Amino acid sequence: MKTIPGHLEIKNNKLHIVDYPLEDISHAYGTPTYVYNLDRVRENYRRIRNAFLKYSDRSVKIYYALKANFNPEILRTLVKEGAYADVLSVFEAEFALKADFPSKRTMFTGTSVTDETMKVMLDRDILINIDSFSMLRRLSKFAPKNLEVSIRWNPGKGAGFNPKVITAGARSHVRPIKFGIEEGKILDLCEEALELGLRPIGLHQHIGSGWTGEDVYSFLDTVTKTLEMAGKMTDFLGYDLKHVDFGGGLGISYRPEQEEFPLEEYAKGICKRVAKRGLGFESICIEPGRYLTGDAGVLLTKVNTVEEKQDTLIVGVDAGFNTLLRPAFYGTYEDHEFKEAYHHIVNVDRVEGPVSLCTIAGPLCETGDLLAIDRELTTPKEGETLAVLGAGAYGYSMSNIYNLQPRAAEVILPGPKLVTRRDSFSSLRINYEEQ
Ligand code: LLP
Repeated sequence: MKTIPGHLEIKNNKLHIVDYPLEDISHAYGTPTYVYNLDRVRENYRRIRNAFLKYSDRSVKIYYALKANFNPEILRTLVKEGAYADVLSVFEAEFALKADFPSKRTMFTGTSVTDETMKVMLDRDILINIDSFSMLRRLSKFAPKNLEVSIRWNPGKGAGFNPKVITAGARSHVRPIKFGIEEGKILDLCEEALELGLRPIGLHQHIGSGWTGEDVYSFLDTVTKTLEMAGKMTDFLGYDLKHVDFGGGLGISYRPEQEEFPLEEYAKGICKRVAKRGLGFESICIEPGRYLTGDAGVLLTKVNTVEEKQDTLIVGVDAGFNTLLRPAFYGTYEDHEFKEAYHHIVNVDRVEGPVSLCTIAGPLCETGDLLAIDRELTTPKEGETLAVLGAGAYGYSMSNIYNLQPRAAEVILPGPKLVTRRDSFSSLRINYEEQ
């Protein structure tokens, strides 16, 4: 059984990223700290690119979804590899441009979008995905004539590791889906776009996040549907689209025993369907976030308390759900209909040793502030550091300052180099009028 992912190593019973002992980073930079291995980000990018190079009959654009991790060093690494950027807010756009993503390699895919946001995208020359009729009509009021736009549609069926991240279909569990234009309205939207002086040149789908294994096949069914819709749009518009975008969502192995994402089936499956449908659009686009950065990052957190309470070993650490929201937000341990967000946890200082069932608890004033429940782990001692694996995507980017607990620092490897300081008293006060 594989116990830790590829770029992590155990030497002298201590956890390393390649040659670098994580214990040293914990001592040098304190905790909580996110550590990202840029070489791993690069490897992940190249793995996807090479899979598509093998099978595609046309250009493939890999848009990195900044929402997974907007660390400037990660952005610079990906732009150098030739990646494109997918952004959903003004500041994500500014982060992408600042990291040297050319505006022509940047796309906006937002929802509940304001006029102000669309104006910034226009000003920066960033392609906009239309998410609603409202957005189309408002955009047309200030867009230049014949502005090219792409259309996000809802292909009717979604997939994802948890109902909260399934973004296609009518409802996900009880939640209505707010994204994209439904099937019966796409051609009406195209017609209205033309009347309003906008030019649809792309079709976009994103069905959900963190799907893997068998779900890849239901994703591929939506690829077929999206291509059918692209065909209808082409016939209706009377010209070829420039791209079809199949979104992100590629899952990663959060559990050591979990199979890897079936990248070959995914890339081959898309390319085969595109070739078979035979449309004239220039590029296939995809928008991975998690796959590029997820396994490249770990969160280091220090143990401050080890104590048995009511027959449970509580291991108190300095990272709460303000630091890493996923386990608390996507985990409902009571209801197995929902899938939890699992993160593997390793004792950095003593990877192997006598184990206990540990409940890893953060410093917030909530019962749900747990990174893991009854997890088998080398029994930690106070002062030791734990590494939460698979924390490179939707970790720092979803963090917050609840309870005025500071957000983590961010360090990159090779290096190590500190990129983001941990929040301090003065940084937390900075937005207040009165200092
Ligand atoms: N494109 C669009 C339009 C998206 O909404 C997303 C993710 C992506 C691409 C990238 O998806 P990825 O390849 O990373 O799965 N906070 C959740 C994930 C939410 C994803 C939201 N949209 C988590 O922690 O798992």
